[in-house]
Amino acid sequence: MLTQFNGQAALNGLCPYFTMFPLDFPLAILGKRASQGDRVLDPFCGRGTTNLAARIFGLPSLGIDSNPVAAAITAAKLVETSVPEIMRELRSILAGPPPRLIPEGEFWEWAFHRDTLDAICRLREAFLADGPTEARLALRGIILGALHGPQQKAFPGYLSNQSPRTYAPKPAYSIKYWRERGERPRFVDTKAVIERRAKRYFSAVPTGVGQCRLADSRQQESMQPEAPGAKFRWIITSPPYYGMRTYRPDQWLRNWFVGGPAAVDYTNMDQVVHSSPEAFAADLATVWRNAARVCTSDARMVIRFGGISDRKASPLDIIKSSLSGSGWRIRTIIQAGTAASGKRQADAFLRRRTKPLAEYDVWAVN
Ligand SMILES: C[S@@+](CC[C@H](N)C(=O)[O-])C[C@H]1O[C@@H](n2cnc3c(N)ncnc32)[C@H](O)[C@@H]1O
Repeated sequence: MLTQFNGQAALNGLCPYFTMFPLDFPLAILGKRASQGDRVLDPFCGRGTTNLAARIFGLPSLGIDSNPVAAAITAAKLVETSVPEIMRELRSILAGPPPRLIPEGEFWEWAFHRDTLDAICRLREAFLADGPTEARLALRGIILGALHGPQQKAFPGYLSNQSPRTYAPKPAYSIKYWRERGERPRFVDTKAVIERRAKRYFSAVPTGVGQCRLADSRQQESMQPEAPGAKFRWIITSPPYYGMRTYRPDQWLRNWFVGGPAAVDYTNMDQVVHSSPEAFAADLATVWRNAARVCTSDARMVIRFGGISDRKASPLDIIKSSLSGSGWRIRTIIQAGTAASGKRQADAFLRRRTKPLAEYDVWAVN
């Protein structure tokens, strides 16, 4: 039984991400079953929930994701820094040279007050230009979380005009929405928003270490442990559900902030393929095989998996077929969330709730 310290879970709220699982899920598994020194891997780390859970218990971890937004959020959860360091870095960037490029067009005029956009662009360019320090990685994660969201009356919590926080507003729809309501973007004090968030998320950072890689887990080299003997004993992960293909377009503003284009990015670069259940399962199988090679012989893998209802394929058939011949043997399958609990991962993803499919936790051994 490992010990968890109070207050360290706050960092998990840094930035929302689609289909994230609750922190309690990896915390419960590692807390009850892992031993000091175990290494933890998540080949589809998303916003780094598994990595943060490992860190809270002082277990070294590696998170891999091919989405730059996911990798940036996870990296921010693994830094060793402090609120004063983050604020020092912020002040120095904001006092630095003006941005070379500020995106133009109706969307940008409505989405952000021009002074706020200037500050966002300064920060964006500074992060893209320099080698990342720990404080900068934290700062980038904070801004990703604050970039867009609802307007709050008392004190602005987000940098944008009225927007959803989980997914980025699509330009045509949002311009129409803001114009119809006459909602011009208000000036937001970037420093104040960031300071509040820095205090909320980085006042009690766990001491454990971890690493995040922006990489495609279908490539074996993405999983290479730092040292040859440093194999992983735990994998706690959740691959995309079959049919969930829009991680990049739905996060296009955050994707722009980490270096992507200033427009909706419909490419699905380096993501597992969704062309058929067979092709999807084959991609997952490649990832499981790669993972088996870097795990100890007594390793455990726990996969949370489910489905979305506009794809008729059975999630259980897909996951079983992906595991067959992959080096992993299924030990147990437990039904996870139910429709009634309202906590299924798919709910966060689908704007229109459709008929839910069950979610499962699949336990496998190497
Ligand atoms: C269900 S989400 C993981 C959510 C995560 N458990 C969390 O709590 O945030 C699946 C992730 O797999 C990533 N992904 C899809 N294909 C990938 C690939 N080939 N290599 C690495 N990551 C990939 C997606 O970008 C997405 O972030």
